[in-house]
Amino acid sequence: MASADQIKALVKSHIDGDEQYFYSVAMQVAAREAKVGHGKLAEDLRDMIDAAKARTSTAAQTGKLLPIARPRGELANLLTVTYPKNRLADMVLEPRTVAQIDRIMQEQRLHTRIREHGLSPRCKLLLVGPPGTGKTMTASVLAGELGIPLFSVRLDALITKFMGETAAKLRQIFDAITSVRGVYFFDEFDAIGSQRGNANDVGEIRRVLNSFLQMIENDQSNSLIIAATNHVEILDHALFRRFDDVIEYHLPTAEQALKLIRSHLGKFAPKPFPLKAISTKSEQLSYAEIRRAIEDAIKEAIMQNEPHVSGDALIRALRERQQFSLGILGIDSKRVTLNHAGSTNQ
Ligand SMILES: Nc1ncnc2c1ncn2[C@@H]1O[C@H](COP(=O)(O)OP(=O)(O)OP(=O)(O)O)[C@@H](O)[C@H]1O
Ligand SMILES: [Mg+2]
Repeated sequence: MASADQIKALVKSHIDGDEQYFYSVAMQVAAREAKVGHGKLAEDLRDMIDAAKARTSTAAQTGKLLPIARPRGELANLLTVTYPKNRLADMVLEPRTVAQIDRIMQEQRLHTRIREHGLSPRCKLLLVGPPGTGKTMTASVLAGELGIPLFSVRLDALITKFMGETAAKLRQIFDAITSVRGVYFFDEFDAIGSQRGNANDVGEIRRVLNSFLQMIENDQSNSLIIAATNHVEILDHALFRRFDDVIEYHLPTAEQALKLIRSHLGKFAPKPFPLKAISTKSEQLSYAEIRRAIEDAIKEAIMQNEPHVSGDALIRALRERQQFSLGILGIDSKRVTLNHAGSTNQ
């Protein structure tokens, strides 16, 4: 018979949605039964645990979802669920950022122990930085490393023109946060977290932001709540103290760009490697843009049946990305000029 502590641990891990801990206690129960001579019971328990574990990992590998983690009804419109397999080692980051993410993972892995002492693991994170620097990827990595689902909040479905509804939908999302452990990701968070809100409906956006502040403050769940934005400067100051950690992302340094390039090129790396030209042509590009350039160059090599990317092709692909992003900036500055001209005409 399982000990009282084991029964309590089983119930608690179920309530917490902590699958790993549940299985490990269940295995302890099986071991205890085996010890007291209940070999058949122990074997049945182990078979059940093995079958359940195999089901979970197949579901995670094939992207099929276990019923418990599949949002239903209205929630299905608000949350998109995936089971990422990303690892922290796949990312190129500053050592300080790696340490921050590592710390969050450690506290999450030991969340039951931390809570037993009346403390909370870090679980409310704000990710800030320019596009293509790894904010969404970090949310995937945390889900992948912790073996829990990633629920991306669909802001377009959350924020409707009937703003009164938005607070009710937010409530549903926070209920899900409490009932199913996962990483809940609010991308483009400035849409609800900005100080000013949309000029047309300041009052409504303000109300939604207030509900968010209240709900995040009251949250006692075992989920991670992650908000990401490119526009930290417009976030309401009241938000910052609600988050346990703020992680900053930056465009890669020359060294980081090279690390990403080398790891993505793998066996396709050009020989010789035109280090200096590649460094120059990666300046000002985000990780996402560099990755695209590398993929373009690799595709070219594949189509030409070459075992390696040519140095020239890689430099060209990077230069194209640089021109592309400068081009976008050019259009923006033109638009600013036009607006300006328009306003002086009025
Ligand atoms: N730090 C990084 N290390 C390695 N690869 C990265 C990194 N950042 C981005 N990438 C690559 O770029 C892709 C896009 O990055 P991601 O979606 O995480 O950017 P983001 O910061 O969320 O951008 P946005 O603000 O536009 O949403 C990733 O899937 C990954 O391939
Ligand atoms: Mg993103």
